[in-house]
Amino acid sequence: MGYGREESPERNLDLIRYLQSWGLREFRDEASYYQWQRSILSEEELRDLGRLIEHRHGGEQVDCDIEFYDVLARPDLVPVLYSQRFNYFLTLGSSICSRIPPANRVLDFGCGVGILTSFFAQQYPGVEFVGIDRSSRSIEMACLEAEKRQLTNIRFEVSQVPQYQLSGTYDLILSTQALFQAEREPGLPSRSWRTFQREGDFKRQEQLEIRTGLQGRLNALLSALEPVGRMIIFEKTWNLGRRIFFQRALGARGLRPISAPIPCRYWSLDEAVIDGPLYEVSRLSKGESSVWNEEPYREPGETLYRCVGLSAHRMGLELALDRVLETASGIHSRMGSWIFRFGLWNQVLVWGFYENSSGFKGLVIGGEEDRDLLHHVFETIKQIQEPDFERLVRDFWGHPANAKYDSAIPCYENHHSSAQNIYEALPSKHIQQESTFQNGEGREMHIELGATKSLAYLYWANTFDQRQLVLMDEERAHILKAYYRESLESPQGPPA
Ligand SMILES: C[S@@+](CC[C@H](N)C(=O)[O-])C[C@H]1O[C@@H](n2cnc3c(N)ncnc32)[C@H](O)[C@@H]1O
Repeated sequence: MGYGREESPERNLDLIRYLQSWGLREFRDEASYYQWQRSILSEEELRDLGRLIEHRHGGEQVDCDIEFYDVLARPDLVPVLYSQRFNYFLTLGSSICSRIPPANRVLDFGCGVGILTSFFAQQYPGVEFVGIDRSSRSIEMACLEAEKRQLTNIRFEVSQVPQYQLSGTYDLILSTQALFQAEREPGLPSRSWRTFQREGDFKRQEQLEIRTGLQGRLNALLSALEPVGRMIIFEKTWNLGRRIFFQRALGARGLRPISAPIPCRYWSLDEAVIDGPLYEVSRLSKGESSVWNEEPYREPGETLYRCVGLSAHRMGLELALDRVLETASGIHSRMGSWIFRFGLWNQVLVWGFYENSSGFKGLVIGGEEDRDLLHHVFETIKQIQEPDFERLVRDFWGHPANAKYDSAIPCYENHHSSAQNIYEALPSKHIQQESTFQNGEGREMHIELGATKSLAYLYWANTFDQRQLVLMDEERAHILKAYYRESLESPQGPPA
């Protein structure tokens, strides 16, 4: 799976310089960003901004949303506040920029202060760009900056979609984080906690489209799209419930992906965000059927889990009872003699167990789908030269001196959708206690405590695709029992 940033070093450099020309700075750590922010904004200004963000409620109330973006567009605030999005602009800007050709007329819906719009216009002087936004202050700022850059191929308009009719037609429409802003909306629930599939519930889909305002906005944009035009869309649709809802809204209007949707990964200060995906869509031609992927995305290595010390030791014993596939061993001048075993447990879990004569034990476990990845680690360890060997072990399990021997650390844990496959395949599963119920928000939740071979497990799942599987050795099964009770007492989510 690709993750957004296109590899065009010259363009990336252009984009970095361009963002700097807006006064934006790139920060990778929160502390230095906030220090900078405090050196520019007074405490009162920061308090006012905090109140404004509280008041806004994720963009669901029109007046608050307009007021919010009007304030953010103040010329003295733009560099400070939009610096938080430096990496977002960089990732998204480079991904979208390369997809603009062969367009002639481009509409950027919800362009804000026009940071990306003006960059695209600068990169493609022969293409005509129009940016629209309902925040008049944002548009003022966008016009000012475009003028400063002497861009003659761009125009900005204050326009609230769908209340105002869009003028003209476009062969490319862009929307980045503007079409589907209702951030608290979880989208469509799955049929039950056992599956990620959704019912074809058209009524619910329509109600949701109306409630979130997506229906009006999408229909209005489509009325301005030329018959063979494209749309490039990037919304917060990483959660499957939101993604399926959004894709169905596009599919119902005859739109289909013309390139593989790409999830985008970017830094928001020191937080790594995975967002999107970025869609490139156009209308279906006659006889063509729409293909939309409604499966959860999987990341290579997402099933992998590492533990050290007691957890590694106890789990290692259980795993080795099934199949050891390969073994490698050696003597290291500082770490002493070592052995690394690679195995498969009941066709469900692949594992690698490393121990050395200094008493260090490290385990890595994953689902069958990450078998090749883990085997690659095994092969690397087998062939690696002594100086790199120690570093590899440290990179993998951390410094032995920092190894946590906390007895509550699970033997295996998986918070991803792949936990479901592993849970379903657990051998000799014996359910000891289970509960399925609706929580206050109408989500169906399931919590299950059981045994698989000589391990205890806890499984937690709901109809909005959250999953958690935890495995513990028999001696520490009481920890999972306590988690189970806690989860029933506060059923909003799995215990941390
Ligand atoms: C999260 S910002 C995104 C700005 C820019 N596209 C970007 O990616 O940085 C959302 C923008 O969409 C605008 N917006 C939201 N709903 C709109 C609507 N119905 N009509 C016009 N603009 C809208 C907001 O005013 C705001 O500037």
